[in-house]
Amino acid sequence: MSGVPSDAYRSEETAVGRDLAIAADRTHEAVTLVGVEKIYESLSGSVTALQDVSFEISNGEFVSLIGASGCGKSTVLKVIAGLISHQAGEVRVFGRPARAGLREVGLMFQSPVLLPWRTVRENVVLPFEIFRQPIDDSINDRASELLELVGLAGFDEKHPWELSGGMRQRAALARLLITNPSLLLMDEPLAALDELTRERLIFELASLCEQLAATAVYVTHNIAEALILSDRVIVMSSRPGTVAEDITVSLPRPRDSDVVDSVEFARLGRRIRDALTTSDG
Ligand SMILES: Nc1ncnc2c1ncn2[C@@H]1O[C@H](COP(=O)(O)OP(=O)(O)O)[C@@H](O)[C@H]1O
Ligand SMILES: [Mg+2]
Repeated sequence: MSGVPSDAYRSEETAVGRDLAIAADRTHEAVTLVGVEKIYESLSGSVTALQDVSFEISNGEFVSLIGASGCGKSTVLKVIAGLISHQAGEVRVFGRPARAGLREVGLMFQSPVLLPWRTVRENVVLPFEIFRQPIDDSINDRASELLELVGLAGFDEKHPWELSGGMRQRAALARLLITNPSLLLMDEPLAALDELTRERLIFELASLCEQLAATAVYVTHNIAEALILSDRVIVMSSRPGTVAEDITVSLPRPRDSDVVDSVEFARLGRRIRDALTTSDG
């Protein structure tokens, strides 16, 4: 087979080799937090957003963080992304201290943050410009492939303002995936969408992440979303944010809309709801 990588390619000395080595071992640790504490200092005083937060995410695992608004979910994600510092504990991504700008890490937020003066395609290829890589035909082809995958075939040359909210979030998803990140960090990516669009996109996202065997940390306050997508759901308690429960979601895959009607889905939903209520004091 011509697609078999050479030894040099497989070498862990290269970024590609490292990614392949990681991908080959699904039990490899992707994200580790040990005793993480985060205190925000502001004029009105200090807020302990996270206290003694510890968990591990293996390669290929999809994990949701769920909890009430203000419990520190976004803070956890930002700490993993290396966007903010923490006061105590350890945060490792693929075995190294977390830091910003890692090529292997892709970020997606509630608002799609598309540049309005750029076409959909130009927005999707933006990460390569940030990494100062010339946009060649192969990158443009990949953008087209991804736009098709997220249901935006034919919208390449449109501008963000010509798209609905759901379509904009699909474009942001294509942009998230274009660099082939080994770790996806998503902060309530569907929360701003209307209910019908959100329901449709959640199953599409589930199927996409199953195809990609993605390692992901997904922040949400929606129990159904967490269950449809995840291998594990980490329930966070508030003030200060910490891990209240770590629940394994053993629902069969692929997951489609039928999964919502299963007895196990209802049982897990109750368990998460109970954990959320208890942890809210
Ligand atoms: N930059 C900041 N400065 C001060 N306090 C902050 C800042 N960001 C978040 N916080 C506080 O930290 C806590 C956790 O915030 P956040 O991680 O955004 O929660 P969540 O994403 O679960 O809603 C909240 O009490 C919030 O007000
Ligand atoms: Mg948040």
